[in-house]
Amino acid sequence: MPATLHFDELVATLPTQDGKVVAITGCTSGMGFVLACTAARLGARVVMLNRPSERADRALAEVQRLGTADLVPCDLASLASVRAAGVTLRERLGDTGLDVLVNNAGVMGMTDLATEDGFDLQMQANHLSHFLLVHEVWPLLEEAAQQRGEARVVNHSSGARNRPDAEMRQPYLERNGGHLGGDRWPGFQKWRRYQQSKLANLLFTYALQDHADQRPGNGVKALCAHPGPADSGLQAKTTRAGGTTILDRYIINSTLKIAQSQEDGTCGLARAAFDPGAKGGDFFGPDAKTRTGPALLLPPERDPAGEKMLWDASLASTGITRFFP
Ligand SMILES: NC(=O)c1ccc[n+]([C@@H]2O[C@H](COP(=O)([O-])OP(=O)(O)OC[C@H]3O[C@@H](n4cnc5c(N)ncnc54)[C@H](OP(=O)(O)O)[C@@H]3O)[C@@H](O)[C@H]2O)c1
Repeated sequence: MPATLHFDELVATLPTQDGKVVAITGCTSGMGFVLACTAARLGARVVMLNRPSERADRALAEVQRLGTADLVPCDLASLASVRAAGVTLRERLGDTGLDVLVNNAGVMGMTDLATEDGFDLQMQANHLSHFLLVHEVWPLLEEAAQQRGEARVVNHSSGARNRPDAEMRQPYLERNGGHLGGDRWPGFQKWRRYQQSKLANLLFTYALQDHADQRPGNGVKALCAHPGPADSGLQAKTTRAGGTTILDRYIINSTLKIAQSQEDGTCGLARAAFDPGAKGGDFFGPDAKTRTGPALLLPPERDPAGEKMLWDASLASTGITRFFP
């Protein structure tokens, strides 16, 4: 396991989150779990948005040992489950609001699979469901911003977002699950599908901030982070899902060879969620050349045409007619 070099130093600089509510998707393991523990230690009430499993129950019990936490079932492979989570969150957090929503959950390198809603599994779990979740909890974010000055949405992208000739493409956001390149050996297309979903995380951040800023007195910031290669459970899950070609093994092994600890991988998320100096639209991650190290403020990677296409296609795919109430 890689040693943790930066995370503890960063956390020591973060302010108390006492009185705040922090919801995190995909916090049964990996960086979401590290962030949930950190939020609890900083004094936040933590809402763990996980699909029901023994892993989810174990993670809840561990975070409850550190502070206040509860579980809201949320399966990101199902739009109905995300809508149900939205109802539960509005019931539970109507009075307090929601200070930080961290859209962390993700799957990587999955086969060309359609979800029950007809989308590519990677695009739905990594982006479309998070888009819908933000819509569902928007009134709670505005409530927290009104009560305590600001609220945040944090998306989790990846170094994989950047590939030459890989702008955002509409078919990946539509009901084309199972028909997005297939799984022909050696499986380039599964990595293209992952790239598209992780680019969507970043472009959604910029589009959300722009749309939110058009609302009078907006107090909600949209931010993004990427961890660099991190030694989490993600790579093993790719292998378990059939990722065993030479290309799969090359990508997974070369990632793990330079990976930092999952705690250091969480630095970007922690800054985006809790750094008092972070501004709307900020993007945090390790140095682009070394791909590891402390989370830095990265240069923006704006793509106005891609952002607009992503926003409109995500609205259509999730069936939202008006994003804000
Ligand atoms: N590790 C890296 O090198 C790396 C690099 C770049 C970006 N990232 C990003 O970092 C994020 C966190 O990944 P990680 O590396 O910490 O991996 P991880 O340990 O596998 O965590 C992924 C989390 O997502 C959850 N998840 C997956 N499918 C879900 C679904 N349908 N509904 C609800 N939750 C679901 C998993 O929950 P279950 O227990 O239910 O499966 C788990 O809690 C991902 O967005 C990933 O793309 C990771």
